[in-house]
Amino acid sequence: MVTVIFPAAGVGRRMGVGKNKALLNLCGKPILVRTLLAFSGCDKVDDFIVAVGAEEVDEVSRMLDKTPGLKPFRVVAGGSERQYSVQNALAALSPDAEIVLVHDAARPLVTTKTIEAVVAEAWRSGAAIAAVRAKNTIKIVRGDGVVESTPDRAKLWEVQTPQGFRCDILKEAYRRAEQDGYLGTDDAALVERMGLTVHVVEGDERNIKLTTPEDLWTAEMFLGRDALGAAKESVKNAGIEFGEMLDELADKVSDAAAKVKAYAEKQEEKK
Ligand code: CTP
Ligand code: MG
Repeated sequence: MVTVIFPAAGVGRRMGVGKNKALLNLCGKPILVRTLLAFSGCDKVDDFIVAVGAEEVDEVSRMLDKTPGLKPFRVVAGGSERQYSVQNALAALSPDAEIVLVHDAARPLVTTKTIEAVVAEAWRSGAAIAAVRAKNTIKIVRGDGVVESTPDRAKLWEVQTPQGFRCDILKEAYRRAEQDGYLGTDDAALVERMGLTVHVVEGDERNIKLTTPEDLWTAEMFLGRDALGAAKESVKNAGIEFGEMLDELADKVSDAAAKVKAYAEKQEEKK
């Protein structure tokens, strides 16, 4: 059984709208709903645990109850850091869960292909993350603004979610992080510090984390392009259907004309 944990308990400070950005509307649906629907369309995952602010649990539960097409879900209270939100969700994990995926609620544009690739690699090796190759040169810079070094770009990847793990591995990684007071910036970091191997699967450039208002505009553009593509396709199909209808009509009209002509000729002969 594969369970997906969605940390969605942030306050969206950088989005600057004064509320949890996961509940913001993106082209007609809340971001969180779009993210959950993206995973609901994948038959390799079974159920969800969503971590939101303690005071948002009721509101979000009601909202998701009213949303058709979602996989079974539970809503739990998150914590003051993303890691604590995931930790709370892990505590609610069913004993039947074998693989657990963690996915930022703020990444609604994730594709089925990426989800399936992470699930498959997690089943195979126990620890998998989605990532894309770094496009920019990245420098290590000292606190005083002086460049220290330039890591080889060919080895640099920008990490995304989903990240997928065998449940026993991720639970143990979280237990040890708590014990050591370690706070990581992604889930895999907690697994890496146990000395375990984490495998990268190539993600998708569109799977951005909606962090600032500019990211929202980018997401709107992607969704707008998809909608336009779908609309063009259906106009094209409608055009083809209309063309076929006209052909049939033309055939019928010429049949009818031939019958009228034959009748007229018969009448002519009778005279
Ligand atoms: N998250 C969480 N619990 C927290 C902080 C973050 O569950 N205490 C979640 C967010 O809701 C988001 C994901 O982790 O889906 C990635 O975090 P981020 O993009 O940093 O979101 P926020 O923390 O909400 O944004 P900001 O850092 O700008 O305040
Ligand atoms: Mg944050």
